[in-house]
Amino acid sequence: MTLRFTVNGVAHQVDPARGDERLIDFLHDDLDLTGTKFCCGIGVCRACTVSTLRPPNDAAVPVVSCSTPLAMVDGLQITTIEGVAPPGDLLPIQQAFLRTFSFQCGYCTPGFVMAAQIFLDSLARARALPADLDKAIEAAIGPHICRCSGYARYYAALRDTAEALFAKKG
Ligand code: FES
Ligand code: FES
Repeated sequence: MTLRFTVNGVAHQVDPARGDERLIDFLHDDLDLTGTKFCCGIGVCRACTVSTLRPPNDAAVPVVSCSTPLAMVDGLQITTIEGVAPPGDLLPIQQAFLRTFSFQCGYCTPGFVMAAQIFLDSLARARALPADLDKAIEAAIGPHICRCSGYARYYAALRDTAEALFAKKG
């Protein structure tokens, strides 16, 4: 059966004979969406993370696109770094990473952004911060590898952005 999925809101249909192809190759080669980065290629570093949603679920989950064949994304709504924010805009977490100089070369950053936004969306759905925010942040972005920076600014930026979600106004 034809594989059907969306990427950043655009519907795609793929011949099932291509089911073994890696999602990241489809993003790069077929769609020219090269913001998702290829690094280890074995599902360890998380640089290639994209966000996926399987309707009717409203909770997105991160997927390592280097290790995910197209057959596995049938029926999914996929969001990449190119589609995570409205065109010409940046999410608060992207602004926070920039403001705090969380990264150096930036190769790992798309993966961090995707995982961080999935985490922030989960907080928004829960309408509360977790009791142990630092532990929750560690669970959300801890598996991501950055070969340049010390991680501390990524973590601090995500903590600030999470707390700002629930900051009292006025
Ligand atoms: S490139 Fe996919 S996990 Fe490292
Ligand atoms: S900033 Fe270079 S790998 Fe993270």
